[in-house]
This record gives sequence, C-alpha cells and structure tokens, in this order.
Amino acid sequence: MRLLVTGGAGYIGSVVARRLVESGHTVTLIDDLSKGHREAAGECELVVGDIGDSRLVSELLAGRRIEAVIHLAASSLVGESVQDPSLYYRNNLVRSLALLDVLLERGVGRLVFSSTAAVYGEPIALPIDESHPTRPTNPYGETKLALETALRWYHAAHGLSSVALRYFNAAGATPDGTLGEVHDPETHLVPNVLRAALGSEPVPVFGTDYQTPDGTAVRDYIHILDLADAHVRALERLEVEGGASAFNLGNGSGFSVLQVIEAARRVTGKPIPIRKAPRRPGDPETLVASSDKAREELRWEPKFPDLESIIETAWKFLRAHPKGYNQ
Ligand code: UFG
Repeated sequence: MRLLVTGGAGYIGSVVARRLVESGHTVTLIDDLSKGHREAAGECELVVGDIGDSRLVSELLAGRRIEAVIHLAASSLVGESVQDPSLYYRNNLVRSLALLDVLLERGVGRLVFSSTAAVYGEPIALPIDESHPTRPTNPYGETKLALETALRWYHAAHGLSSVALRYFNAAGATPDGTLGEVHDPETHLVPNVLRAALGSEPVPVFGTDYQTPDGTAVRDYIHILDLADAHVRALERLEVEGGASAFNLGNGSGFSVLQVIEAARRVTGKPIPIRKAPRRPGDPETLVASSDKAREELRWEPKFPDLESIIETAWKFLRAHPKGYNQ
C-alpha cells in the first residue's frame, strides 16, 4: 500500500516506517522535526511539515495517492502535558482532527493511530485489558482518548476505519543499532539508566514508597520492533475489516524501576549509580497490559519479550550514538 506515516522521523515512527517498508509498503513520512531526526528517516521520503497544515497534507495525500495513514505525530510527555495542557490539546487533538478531515476530503478511509496506556489512568484491575475503564489522569492521556473517541464517531458518520494501538512502555532499539531513542531532554527510564552506565549522573529513582515488592513503580516494557510489527498487522486488519477498534500492546510482565536498573547492570557490566528521588507527579504505581485481544485478533506475538534483550538493543544503539544521531 502507499502509506503516509505522521511523526515518521521520531523514535517509534522511524522504526514503524522501516518495518512497513520491509513489508513491501511504499512509505512517505511527514514530521515537523520538533522531536524527530532527519537521520531517522532512512530511505523514506521525508516531508518536513505540520500535520495541521491541511493544504500541505491534502496535496501529499493526492500527490502520493496515499491509501492509508499511520498517525504517530504527537506530543507525548505526561509531565509536560500537566504543565502545558494547551500544547497537548492543540498538537494531539486540534491538529489530529484537521488531519482526519483531510482524510475524508481525499477519500482516504484507513488510519492506524498511536495511542497509549495513559488512556486508562490509575488501574483498578491488573492486567489491564481494553474493557478497563478509561479515566486519564493527565492531558496527554485525555487527548489521546479524545481522538480515539472521535475515530469511533468518524467511523459511524463517514465510514473511516481505524485501529488505535495503546502502547505500554516502548523501549529498545533496532538490533542493528541504527534506530533508537534520542530525546532532548530524555525523560524515559531505559535510556536514562543506560546513560548512567556510560558514566553520566546517577539515575534518579522516582518514588521508592509505592505498594510494590521493592517500593518502585512497575511498568510493562515492550520492544520497539514488536510495536512496529503490530502496525503492519493493524493495516492488514483494516484491509479486510472496517470498524474503529483499540488494542493494548504490552508483554504482560511488569518490571520495577529497580529491576530495570539491575537488568541494565547485567547487560552493560557497569555499576549504574542511583539516587532516590520523590515520586514523579501523575505516575501510576503499576501498569501491566493484557494484550490477548491483539494476539487473537491481530495475530500479534512479541518476538523480544524479555527485558534483557530490550535493554541490550538500547545499549547497542546508545554506544553507537552516545550524543544522538549525528555525532
Ligand atoms: N523513572 C525513573 N527515573 C527516570 C525515568 C523514569 O525512576 O529517570 C520511572 C518513572 O517514574 C516511571 C518509570 O520509571 O515510574 C517509567 O518511566 P518512563 O518515563 O520511562 O515511562 P512512563 O511510564 O512514565 O511513560 C510511558 C510512556 C508515555 C505514556 C505512559 C503511560 O513513555 O508516553 O507510559 O502511562 F503516556
């Protein structure tokens, strides 16, 4: 298929795009490079621009005869969303709605949407499946959920078919060490722990008084290639079945912050100093997915489920790019 990947020069988008190309699709990327990296675009055509620029997107859809869109362009930091909700409503909702309207105008009827575990808020039951109540506790999750809801109504009114993929904690890099996580500032646990292994500052452990076995927060880490693979399968589903559905993507195993640090010590053979720090506002205690629905309906099976292989790939990438892509 001829595809447009929004946010295609970002951490997840770049790996998704490469996986789509490997599956035989023709991929164009649109990215404003506010967080993405030109170097991550690889062989794909990269259009630098804003998904809220309806004229540009409309021309792209027509000019490249796009048949489906993979929509990842978004702001995605929970803490920042609490500080600056307007940014999240504008970037994640207003701009996304503009994109949906251009899809309708151009008759593009299929969309895969990058959603998040943050749509659930504080869990009331574990593991979290798709029937769990959705009560986001921050504007990031709220705006992603709002777009999921809009997608259901757009399907009912206009027949736009979509799959929303609710990612748990994306981590790792491509095993060849060429695509991985480069954020500035970096807020995510795995790259921060690995940077500490390279000799930068001790890694802060945000919260040591949670009601978990070792007192630190528990997350479900999912390898970036497994996430990417789910996008290919979501597209295949859209070819045979319409609707507006949502799927969790996680491994179903929870690891605490201290367990991640311990695993990183084993992988790197480095000491990794830590410093205890207060809880980060808005962080849930435990997030673990049930991905049975994706396994059954998308026939999705994670290939890198163990934490050490996730960390190993991230470590290989960081050693190859200690200061980011172009250094
Ligand atoms: N953490 C630390 N030290 C760090 C970084 C993180 O202790 O230096 C802790 C966090 O407090 C949290 C855990 O490690 O308990 C994981 O934190 P991340 O920042 O790596 O990931 P989050 O769980 O906060 O966020 C992820 C995605 C978001 C998504 C969210 C859903 O990155 O996009 O899950 O809740 F919204």
